[in-house]
Amino acid sequence: MIQLIRGFKDILPGEVELWQFIEKQTTSLFEDFGFKDIRIPIVERTELFSRSIGEETDIVEKEMYTFPDRKGDLITLRPEATASIVRSYIQHRLYAADPVQKLYTIGPMFRRERPQKGRYRQFYQIDAEVFGVSSPLMDAQIMFMLMTLFTRLSVTDCTAKINSLGCPDCRPAFTAGLSQLLSEKAGALCEDCTRRSARNPLRVLDCKVPACKAAMADAPSILDYLCPDCRSHFDSVMRHLTLLGVSFELDKRLVRGLDYYTRTAFEIQTTLLGAQSAIAGGGRYDGLVKALGGPDIPAIGFAIGVDRLAEIAARSHPDLSRKPKLFIAALGETSQTLAFEWVSKLASAGIHAEMDMAGRSLKSQMKQADRLGAEHVLIAGDTELEKGQVLLRDMVTKEQVPVPVNDLVEAMRSRFA
Ligand code: HAM
Repeated sequence: MIQLIRGFKDILPGEVELWQFIEKQTTSLFEDFGFKDIRIPIVERTELFSRSIGEETDIVEKEMYTFPDRKGDLITLRPEATASIVRSYIQHRLYAADPVQKLYTIGPMFRRERPQKGRYRQFYQIDAEVFGVSSPLMDAQIMFMLMTLFTRLSVTDCTAKINSLGCPDCRPAFTAGLSQLLSEKAGALCEDCTRRSARNPLRVLDCKVPACKAAMADAPSILDYLCPDCRSHFDSVMRHLTLLGVSFELDKRLVRGLDYYTRTAFEIQTTLLGAQSAIAGGGRYDGLVKALGGPDIPAIGFAIGVDRLAEIAARSHPDLSRKPKLFIAALGETSQTLAFEWVSKLASAGIHAEMDMAGRSLKSQMKQADRLGAEHVLIAGDTELEKGQVLLRDMVTKEQVPVPVNDLVEAMRSRFA
């Protein structure tokens, strides 16, 4: 038997209803905040990701699914959505009508990481991006939106961590200080960090290897290096988060795994998923639109890991699967034909009804109705039909009432719609 590939998974009925619920809640909330849906391709030119996420990141160095297409062009299964949305924003000149655009998308991303609990090679993100707003009010607002979604999904066991990564004016002084420390600790760092410490020292702050963590214990804080503009931006973000009642922790080690960030960076973390603590992450990336060939337009966004979110939300939403309103138990050919007609017409009128098409006994049809979780069963036996009626049985109270067969579909519709 052919099995699915390691790190990939099926989302089966029984589980998928929670995903649909999450998606519905997301769409409705995000649209109330003025976001519009955008659909972007799953495959892009490799260069788009290497230039935006950064050559010296884990994602670009070792996690992308990259392959030459039949003409030899290098293409990559998207590891995230931000780069593609920026490309689309520039390519379609979405800024021309109005630089302010709020966009969201939901879909699969691909990273060839080592699979473990909460970490997959195909995973799903809910991604939101705002272009054209440099005000710190937006930073606070999108974090508020994110936390509101989590609250609506009863995901409350999590912490928002925030940091500022400064800007091209103030960050170099910090990275220079960090490089200095790194050269002193050279022997103590892991292979990746040794290689990166010259070209991308910030990455070392993010390394999970215990030796690197220890070496970085007395690293300077970027917050001490912020220029006045970055400092006041960050203070304002925190003030407005407090105003909106969003609780957060300052985490001066938070640097994120992608290189495009400037100023505000944040993550929503949980202790419920073992090593995979981040359910969402994001931040400002004021230089990326320009770096990818567009105008100088600021931006900010975040992505939620849906697999992780669903795993936590499942604890408070055990069974969301839809049960049929009605099961029609038919006995005999005439009754089965009637049931067939009613089930079809009820479904097209928006009432989920089921029947047995195999001519089983009443007993096994009742069992089937029970298994499906039907709320009511219509029993269409010959004796009742001769009287021009069927029996409607409430599966919870076990009460049965006769219902005339004339206009049955309409009667059921007005009862259950
Ligand atoms: P990211 O932190 O790389 O950010 O990913 C966001 C979220 O995706 C993570 O917090 C995690 O929940 C989920 N995730 C990442 N990798 C995996 C995986 N292998 N398996 C399961 N879940 C995973 C970004 O992708 C940025 N594009 C976010 C952003 C948008 N920044 C600005 N705009």
